Amino acid sequence: MQVPLADPIDFSFPALTARERYKLLIGTVVPRPIALVTTVDLAGVPNAAPFSFFNCLSADPALVALGVEFKADGRNKDTGRNVRDTKCFTVNIVSDAILEGMNVTAVPFDGSVDEIAEAGWTARPGTVVSCPWIAEAPAALECRLHSILEIGTSREIILGEVLHAHFRNGVVDPKTLHVDPVALDAVGRMGGHGYASTRDYFDLPTMSVADYGEGRHPTRSPLAAPAPRRSGRAQRTGPLRGR
Ligand SMILES: Cc1cc2nc3c(=O)[nH]c(=O)nc-3n(C[C@H](O)[C@H](O)[C@H](O)COP(=O)(O)O)c2cc1C
Repeated sequence: MQVPLADPIDFSFPALTARERYKLLIGTVVPRPIALVTTVDLAGVPNAAPFSFFNCLSADPALVALGVEFKADGRNKDTGRNVRDTKCFTVNIVSDAILEGMNVTAVPFDGSVDEIAEAGWTARPGTVVSCPWIAEAPAALECRLHSILEIGTSREIILGEVLHAHFRNGVVDPKTLHVDPVALDAVGRMGGHGYASTRDYFDLPTMSVADYGEGRHPTRSPLAAPAPRRSGRAQRTGPLRGR
């Protein structure tokens, strides 16, 4: 016997405030990858900040997108300003090991503060862009500004074309180009102040029409044991600040 489905709870988005839409979206579209974006200003001062309105949208051309809010007074955040000024940015992937440092970079410091140094990381010079990348990150994507979508008065969407990638040794197989998800150890953003790890990683191959029709349905297969947590790292006990 089929159990009747309970009535759904619906929202008409145009009738909601921007804050209400934001709350529903960040709680629903999860987990979001986190771009730890490094840029430089015109004087060469480095900047780093996390953005979870982020994804890879195309491989040909190789495009990533960032949703960057404006400050309360309508000015650009340092990241948005630097991208406009220098036409480039670098996306560093956030792993478990650098999560607390990432949270330092989210503090709304003024533009004179080098958040890479503040987080205690090593800045490496970009290969094809003027932005540094973070040596402690498992992967970094150097991007040239592709375009900026001016979508409203509170935020903009920045598209970047990936021109160069750096991987920490052991994260990618240079022959097969397989990126090891266990070595990457990426962390995603949930709603509120929540985060999720990728440590329950499993494989579930997509079926062909024939496999599906003939009942060859794959099951989930765990790949490998999760990476050990770094010893001596401060335990996360309280809520993390930020968005
Ligand atoms: C995990 C995380 C994700 C965030 N995602 C975004 C985002 O997608 N868009 C945004 O405008 N701010 C986002 N923020 C807030 C910015 O990181 C924050 O405003 C930062 O201070 C901006 O720095 P900047 O002025 O140096 O660019 C996020 C913060 C955290 C902690």
